[in-house]
Amino acid sequence: MTYAEADIIATVERLTGTSLSALSRAQLDGIDQFHAGGPEAIERLIPHLALTPGSTVLDVGSGLGGPARQVARTAGCRVIGVDITPAYVAAAQALSDAAGLSERTRFVHSDIGEFGRTDVGESVHSGFDAAYTVHVQMNIADKKVFYAEIARLLRPGARLAVFEVARGVGDEPALPLPWSLDGTDSHLVTADELRDTIRSSGFTPVEWADESAWTRRWFDDLGRELLAGAVPATLPALLADGPTRMLNYAAAVATGAVTVQRGVFTAGV
Ligand SMILES: C[S@@+](CC[C@H](N)C(=O)[O-])C[C@H]1O[C@@H](n2cnc3c(N)ncnc32)[C@H](O)[C@@H]1O
Repeated sequence: MTYAEADIIATVERLTGTSLSALSRAQLDGIDQFHAGGPEAIERLIPHLALTPGSTVLDVGSGLGGPARQVARTAGCRVIGVDITPAYVAAAQALSDAAGLSERTRFVHSDIGEFGRTDVGESVHSGFDAAYTVHVQMNIADKKVFYAEIARLLRPGARLAVFEVARGVGDEPALPLPWSLDGTDSHLVTADELRDTIRSSGFTPVEWADESAWTRRWFDDLGRELLAGAVPATLPALLADGPTRMLNYAAAVATGAVTVQRGVFTAGV
C-alpha cells in the first residue's frame, strides 16, 4: 500500500525537532505539501479559483492538508479536504488545529466517490464554490467517474483547478514513485487524454498548461537547497522510501517520461 505512513505527527515533530504547537509555517512548508512544486504550485492555482472570503472550497485528495491551509489563509475562505487515507486525515486536522485554522479547514475521511453520501456532520455535501485536486488522479483508474463526482459536488459555473502528472514519452518512469511504490496503483494517461477526460466529465476548459519545465526547475532548486543543508525537513524524510521516490519523480520529469499539467475548468458544459 502506497500511503501507509503512521505516527505522522510524531515523525514531523522528530524531523523538525519542534513540538506540534511550536511548528512555524516555514518548517511545515516543506513537509505538508505532497506534490512537486510545494506552496509555489498552489500559488499558481489560487488566482484561478475565483475565491472570496465567503467561499467554501473542496480539496480532493487533501493529503496532509498543506494546500488546504494555504488556500484558506490566502483567500480567507473555508476549505473542506477529502482523503481516502485515515492517517493523513487525522494528521491534516491536527496540523490545522495547531496552526489555528480549525475553523476554516476541515478534513473528512472518504473516497471522493462516496463523499456525497458520507455523514460529515454539516450540510456541505454539494454546491461547493470551487474545487482543486493536486497530484491525485495518478492513483485513479476510472478518471471519468472521479471527475464526474467532483462536477456533481460543485455549483454550476464553479472553478476546478488541477495540478497533475501525466504520461510523457519514452520509457516508463522508474519505481517507486511518490504516488506508487510498486506500480499497481499508478494509472497514468497522457496530458491530452487527461484534459479530454476532465472535459467529458462535465467541465469546460479555461486553461491547460504544461508546467513540466517549471517543475523541473523547482526540483533542481530543491536539490541545490538540500545539498546546501538549507531545508531542515522535507516530505521525503516522512515517507517510506521517500528520497528514492522523489528522485525517481524528478528524473521522470527531466527525461520527459512524465509531464506535469496545470488545468483550470468551469463546472458545466
Ligand atoms: C500524492 S498525495 C497528494 C496530497 C495533496 N493533494 C497534496 O498535494 O499535498 C495523493 C493523495 O490522494 C489521496 N487519494 C487517492 N485516491 C483517493 C480517492 N479516491 N479519494 C480521496 N483521496 C484519494 C491519497 O490518500 C493521498 O493523500
